[in-house]
Amino acid sequence: MRRSRTDEARAMQENLEILIRAVNEWLPEGRPVVQAPPAAELEQKLDLTLGQQGSDRETLESAIQSYLHYNPDVSQAEFYKLLYSGQNKYAVLGDWITSLSNATMHTYQVGPVATLMEMELIRKWNELVGFNQDGNPAEGVMVAGGSQANLIGMMLARHHACPDYKTQGANGKTLVAYVSDQAHYSGQKAANVLGIGTDNLIAVATDENGRMRPDALAEEIEKTLAKGHVPFFIGLTAGTTVTGAYDPVAACSEIAKAHDIWLHIDGAWGGPILFSETHRHLLEDSHLADSFAWDAHKLMNVPITAAVILVKQPGALKACCSGGGGDYLFHADENADYNLGERSIQCGRRADALKVWLSWKAIGNQGFSDKIDYLQTMKTECVLQIEQRESLEMLVPASYLNVLFRYKPEHISDEEELRQLNITICKTMMRSGGPYVDYAQYKGRTGIRLILANTEVTQAHLERLLDKVERIGQELSA
Ligand SMILES: Cc1ncc(COP(=O)(O)O)c(C=O)c1O
Repeated sequence: MRRSRTDEARAMQENLEILIRAVNEWLPEGRPVVQAPPAAELEQKLDLTLGQQGSDRETLESAIQSYLHYNPDVSQAEFYKLLYSGQNKYAVLGDWITSLSNATMHTYQVGPVATLMEMELIRKWNELVGFNQDGNPAEGVMVAGGSQANLIGMMLARHHACPDYKTQGANGKTLVAYVSDQAHYSGQKAANVLGIGTDNLIAVATDENGRMRPDALAEEIEKTLAKGHVPFFIGLTAGTTVTGAYDPVAACSEIAKAHDIWLHIDGAWGGPILFSETHRHLLEDSHLADSFAWDAHKLMNVPITAAVILVKQPGALKACCSGGGGDYLFHADENADYNLGERSIQCGRRADALKVWLSWKAIGNQGFSDKIDYLQTMKTECVLQIEQRESLEMLVPASYLNVLFRYKPEHISDEEELRQLNITICKTMMRSGGPYVDYAQYKGRTGIRLILANTEVTQAHLERLLDKVERIGQELSA
């Protein structure tokens, strides 16, 4: 028998009380942004064993408390480590409601409003990317992250080049894909999963700013053709993971067209620049691509996961991804066109649309545009401060919201010594509770990667960070 609404409300009330305690007591103001010890130490500290018998509420609450205590507080301005930071209160609310409803996205019937919201989001995303120009009914589907969006981009390319691959496999053909040497590692995962072979994913050389060199791309394609292999996928990046570089779309699109190669853009991190009239020129040719990956859980700061693969050619997703389910799930009824499941590689799929839709509805395109413009101003300010300090240097110009710099005192020039020094600066800062930055490599040099993704960040925060880098650097290298 069904539990009464009163029982359900009481259970939810208890949950809400825990949530409120979590916000007020377990994530108190002023707590360090990062405070987890190394894994082996934490494993010893906590008892997370599962047993035959259930546990009482205090035990569960205490586990939640530990969970929050040791997790970095990603809502803080000084969480600069990843490609998201801060708190999007509308999206958090959406995430809770999504769990409450437990809708799923294969068919309209089991996620009716979520389906319509996802369709509206896809229309708006396609508008920004420019895929629905001249009335083209471009399409898309939400996915579990940028990696999956890139995987599907490559799968669409494979289907475009070899439609029989889906049913017959490689049939003796060797397919070759191209991304830049700065592309995200999800390209390798995709080549692996799709059976292309990771050796057939070519890392095309980049220029000094980390952008793919079109001449190098053309050369690699010629090499492939000379071997009798099939070039099928060019994956550009809009906002590379380490330096935020934007590959040149127009020049690479010419090459793609000349050889009939699918052109995909990985805009997981840098796609949202399209919201900003001031900065969208970095990606003004996005409409020339065939598919586009966009993560809402990065700069739009929606709780993980929320992402989309957008596709210019309507019907391409279903042709490539569909298979099975017609006998029990995808009924040919009046809602058939609204069943998104056949465009997806998943069956059950979380209704990620609500949290994105709520935040977009709440702040509009303008809100995201303002966010980017503000963060770009902070970035410019940060780069200026770095350039003014004698012991700091930028490793690459910052076109987007990644600032890659390093501590370099005059008396050290050995690359390995500088690398170790900057790694130790990051680790020391992390152990002392923050600010939380990480180190990264770019073209053989190691620097400190600072990501600006949180509009709570002020000049004072940036000064505090750079002061601390210099202070720790001086102590370590004295
Ligand atoms: C450029 C780029 N593409 C793709 C990804 C993968 O995205 P996700 O973590 O959502 O799978 C990342 C992650 O950092 C990224 O920076």
